[in-house]
Amino acid sequence: MKIVIINASPRSDGLTAAILNGISNTLTERNVDVSYYDLGRLSMAQCFGCCSCYKTGYCVIDDDAEKVSHVIADSDGIVLGTPTYASNVSGLMKVFIDRGHFVIEQLLRGKYCVTVATGENYGSKDTVKVLDKLVLYSGGRLVKRIAVNEPFNSVRLGAKHSSKIEHLASKAGTKLYDAVIRQKKYPLQALYHKIIFELGIKPFVLRKGDKYSGVIRKWKGEII
Ligand SMILES: Cc1cc2nc3c(=O)[nH]c(=O)nc-3n(C[C@H](O)[C@H](O)[C@H](O)COP(=O)(O)O)c2cc1C
Repeated sequence: MKIVIINASPRSDGLTAAILNGISNTLTERNVDVSYYDLGRLSMAQCFGCCSCYKTGYCVIDDDAEKVSHVIADSDGIVLGTPTYASNVSGLMKVFIDRGHFVIEQLLRGKYCVTVATGENYGSKDTVKVLDKLVLYSGGRLVKRIAVNEPFNSVRLGAKHSSKIEHLASKAGTKLYDAVIRQKKYPLQALYHKIIFELGIKPFVLRKGDKYSGVIRKWKGEII
């Protein structure tokens, strides 16, 4: 089993990382092959909107965002974690979403997903909804969402974590593992995705014709 974990906090030892590392530990104890990425340590340029990926299937910027997107395509599931910045995902997460071929190309189709948003005040619930929508629009199966608030800097990696954080992480990791092992179906999510895809994404892409031929090839699995 291969799971990708994405930390979109620029701080690799903060609250988001504490939860993601807890999930990672729970998975590695079960011999899962975990690929963990701190987006802040990667080379990842912003999308500049050339739209050539829709025609060719790949981005003209050959950096880590493109590489991680390929690792995700080859995985069974993903854990997306972000701090709340101004009631939304972090800038790092937004750049990754824009670059990652998620929605139109359906990167997460059939993959098992956990979403994590941390905050210190209010807004983490709004933030996690952004990630949930990304997962469902991209064809993923949402196994578990975590929206949690703690005072800024109260939890750092290496320090003793509150039992609440450890409990949340271990529960999410276990749920993710079980969902993949059982190949759990989520009928309501599947119906929701079918409506979004068949009525929204597919007709839009087909109307674009040759300009979106790379997307169609990705849907058919001809390229990853
Ligand atoms: C620029 C910035 C904006 C923030 N905006 C919010 C916010 O709108 N709501 C909130 O609850 N916390 C906000 N926070 C606090 C962080 O979301 C919170 O402390 C988070 O857990 C930090 O994650 P990290 O420790 O993984 O970096 C903000 C922090 C920063 C640095």
